[in-house]
Amino acid sequence: MRAITIPEPGDADSLVLDEVPDPVAGAGQVLIDVVAAGVNRADVMQRLGHYPPPPGASEYPGLEVSGRIAAVGDGVEQWQVGDEVCALLDGGGYAERAVAPAEQVLPVPRGVSLVDAAGLPEVACTVWSNVFLVANIQPGQVLLVHGGSSGIGTMAIQLAKAVGAHVAVTAGSAEKLDVCRELGAEFLVNYKEEDFVERLHELTKALATNGRLVTIGLMGGRRGELDMGMLLAKRGAVIATSLRARPATEKAAIVAAVREHVWPLIEAGDVRPVIQSRHPLEHAAEAHREMEASGHIGKILLTT
Ligand SMILES: NC(=O)c1ccc[n+]([C@@H]2O[C@H](COP(=O)([O-])OP(=O)(O)OC[C@H]3O[C@@H](n4cnc5c(N)ncnc54)[C@H](OP(=O)(O)O)[C@@H]3O)[C@@H](O)[C@H]2O)c1
Repeated sequence: MRAITIPEPGDADSLVLDEVPDPVAGAGQVLIDVVAAGVNRADVMQRLGHYPPPPGASEYPGLEVSGRIAAVGDGVEQWQVGDEVCALLDGGGYAERAVAPAEQVLPVPRGVSLVDAAGLPEVACTVWSNVFLVANIQPGQVLLVHGGSSGIGTMAIQLAKAVGAHVAVTAGSAEKLDVCRELGAEFLVNYKEEDFVERLHELTKALATNGRLVTIGLMGGRRGELDMGMLLAKRGAVIATSLRARPATEKAAIVAAVREHVWPLIEAGDVRPVIQSRHPLEHAAEAHREMEASGHIGKILLTT
C-alpha cells in the first residue's frame, strides 16, 4: 500500500509518499481501507521530530481515519467486513490501510459523508473527554474556548451549546469569529486586538470561582505564570491532558461515551463536522503547510 512516511524530520516536504507493507489486524483490532484521514497538530509535531509515536504504534503519522472495514482480527465481533466507520488511531492514518483497536472504531454518523467522518474522532473524543468528563460542564455555565475556529474549537462550541452552556471564544480574525458565532458562540474576542480577560469581565471572570482551566495545547508556549493564591481563593482547578498518551482502556471508554452522547447530536443535525479542505494523500505536504499557516477554520483532511 501507499503511505506517507517521514524518512527525516523537518519541514512539510519531509512527508514522503512511499510504498510500504500492508498492516495486519491483530487480535482485537480491525483493518480499515482508508478513504480519508484527519490532519492534526500532533502530526506536524511528529513530522518535526518532537512527538515520537508511542511504543507499539505505527511509525507513520495520522491519528484518525474514515473508511471501510477490510478485515477483523481474532475476538472482534462488533464490526464486519464492509462496515463504513471512522476511528481514533494510535498512528498510521496517512495511508491506504490502517489498523485500529476495535473499541476505538465508531460507525459513520447518519447525515455525514464517509470522507468528512474522518474529521470527527479526534475532535469529538478530545472535546468530550476534556469539556465533559474532566471539566464537567453544566447547563448555564460559561465555556471559554481559546482557538475557537480550530478543529477542536469548532466542535467544543457546538457541543457546549448543545447541552445549554454559554460559549465564549477567542480567535485571531473577524472571519474566524463569524464562523464561531454561526456555530453558537455568544461572546467573541479577537485576542490579537483585545485583552480577553478584560473583555470577559462583561460576562464572567477568567477564571471564575470554582472554575476549571483545562490545557490541551501549547501553541502559545509551554510555560506560564500562575498566582496560586488567586487559584486558592477561587477554588479553581488547573488540569492538563493528552488523548494520545492515554491507555487503550481509557480511549475505549471515551469512544463509547462519544458514541452515546455526541453521535445522536450529530445525527439530529445539532452538531456537524466543520471541514476547511480535502487534499489528496499525495499532497500531504500542502495540507501541513495549510495547517501551519493557521488561516484554516475547522478540519483539514487527506483523501486516498
Ligand atoms: N491534548 C490533547 O489530547 C489534544 C488533542 C487534540 C488537539 N490538541 C491540541 O489542541 C490544539 C488545537 O488543535 P487543532 O487540531 O484544533 O488545531 P488547529 O485546527 O490547527 O487550530 C489551531 C488554532 O489555534 C490558534 N492559535 C495559534 N496560536 C495561538 C495562541 N498563541 N493563542 C490562541 N490561539 C492560537 C490559531 O488560530 P488563530 O490564532 O488565528 O485564532 C490556529 O488556527 C493544538 O494545540 C493541538 O495540539 C490536543
